[in-house]
Amino acid sequence: MIKNNIVKRDKSEYGDFQTPFELARKICRWLKEQGIEPQVLVEPTCGCGNFILAALETFPSIQYVYGIEIYKPYINETEKKLEPFVKNRNINIKIIQDDVFHFQFSDIAKKHQSKLILVLGNPPWVTNSGLSVKESGNLPTKSNLKNVAGIEAITGKGNFDIGESATFSMLKTFAESNGCFAFLIKNIVIKNIIQSQQQFAFPISDLRQIDIDAKKEFNANVDAGLFFARFNETSAVDCCVAESFDQPVIRSFGWTNHKFVADIERYKKCAEFDGVSPEIWRQGLKHDCAAVMELATTENGYKNNQNKTVNIEPDLVYPLLKSSDLKGQVITKTNRNVIVPQTLVGQNTDYLATDFPLTFDYLDKHRELFDKRKSVIYKNKPLFSIFGIGDYSFKPFKVAISGLYKQTQFSLVLPIENKPVMLDDTCYFLGFDSLEEATCVMYCLNQPEIQNLLHSIVFWNAKRVITKDILMRLDYFPILQRIEISKMLEYAERQQLTLTKSIFLQNPSFTFGRQHQEFLWK
Ligand SMILES: C[S@@+](CC[C@H](N)C(=O)[O-])C[C@H]1O[C@@H](n2cnc3c(N)ncnc32)[C@H](O)[C@@H]1O
Repeated sequence: MIKNNIVKRDKSEYGDFQTPFELARKICRWLKEQGIEPQVLVEPTCGCGNFILAALETFPSIQYVYGIEIYKPYINETEKKLEPFVKNRNINIKIIQDDVFHFQFSDIAKKHQSKLILVLGNPPWVTNSGLSVKESGNLPTKSNLKNVAGIEAITGKGNFDIGESATFSMLKTFAESNGCFAFLIKNIVIKNIIQSQQQFAFPISDLRQIDIDAKKEFNANVDAGLFFARFNETSAVDCCVAESFDQPVIRSFGWTNHKFVADIERYKKCAEFDGVSPEIWRQGLKHDCAAVMELATTENGYKNNQNKTVNIEPDLVYPLLKSSDLKGQVITKTNRNVIVPQTLVGQNTDYLATDFPLTFDYLDKHRELFDKRKSVIYKNKPLFSIFGIGDYSFKPFKVAISGLYKQTQFSLVLPIENKPVMLDDTCYFLGFDSLEEATCVMYCLNQPEIQNLLHSIVFWNAKRVITKDILMRLDYFPILQRIEISKMLEYAERQQLTLTKSIFLQNPSFTFGRQHQEFLWK
């Protein structure tokens, strides 16, 4: 339902960032350079009309304009701005107050079948989960989402961008028209649309992402760009990326050989390593109760993050690393600790009261904070339950990487004070029993082949850049087979790692990784 004539409203609920006129003009001029001469202009969420104004100024060919906007004051403002064009150029202009998810855009597509249509604009950049938090009514309804068939399939996890569903809906309606599409959207939405092309195969071609400085233009801390596509033409779905309107293409991303990659040229050079990881990558542990579970080591013993001294048995306290700690190549120190009350997910924790009474009393004193944990995963689970815990968590040597940071270096994590180090759930890791094995794998993962592969498949604008899915694609086994042991040992020496060389040099076989293949060292 349209919240009619609302005078004051929450701008963020409506993703209300009006495009500066200069940027709208720049985009229109760039479109003109691409040979675009539209007869029909469609602006699906036109706001106060800057795109329409810039388009009318740039394209004398425009005969029809359709602007849709939910917010009445903007309709008035747009109509006023466009008055001179109605009078002087006899253009048929309709600025309509409606919801982009209700308006029948298909009527426009049908009516102007033989004309060149330009769908131009900047839809709201908000996610539905952001809106649900605000209990917003500005969401595509379920039935409308059905019209936008498959949006869930694209976005997967039920969290999608309103701009994404608007883009998807416009492509569905107009892809078979004549003309083109130009939307300012988040780059992650462009990626999702291109990724979904394998499934939906809209007849669109000449796909481009032209990056803009969203901080400067909209004061938004997000990677965004102009997404351009020509309708009614089929081609390979690669999307070419340029850093700005006057720069050449810097890379292209899309589907190649049934894999979706971020940099096609770079990927081609290392595609042989895009396979299945010889070992299973694990996410670190999750407890959602940092105030109680995380302890700092101080001169006076453990302190929790309320700065309270915590006097408990040390047995269940393990060193902890977070994403921000995974900086060096070899990690041997941390000031953080975490209480690990279970060795397996779902393990009964009754034993705590008898075996570790101080730990039990401390946790029990804060039971309220555990009960407040929002995630459903903790419902009906043993007291003080944690997740992301298993045999692998207690392996003494780990190779780890942060899921949040824009870096691809793998770190070797060594036991601290004879205890295996835990990682939190922002990190991923492989666990090993021997330093030799862990060092070899860390060395392989940091070789240019795997680093190049990671750089070619990672989309840096995702919220979590490195994921388990990405890591499971890294087949480092061929590198393991090829490494020169002497170089690896030199590297280990530089990192001050004392490896038992005889494992490599005398014992010719070393059971390793995938399908327990016997790997013969050179
Ligand atoms: C990012 S602003 C861009 C406005 C305009 N396209 C421009 O580029 O300047 C998004 C616009 O979408 C409008 N809007 C938000 N939800 C809408 C909906 N469900 N239907 C139609 N317009 C909507 C907002 O009021 C706002 O004017």
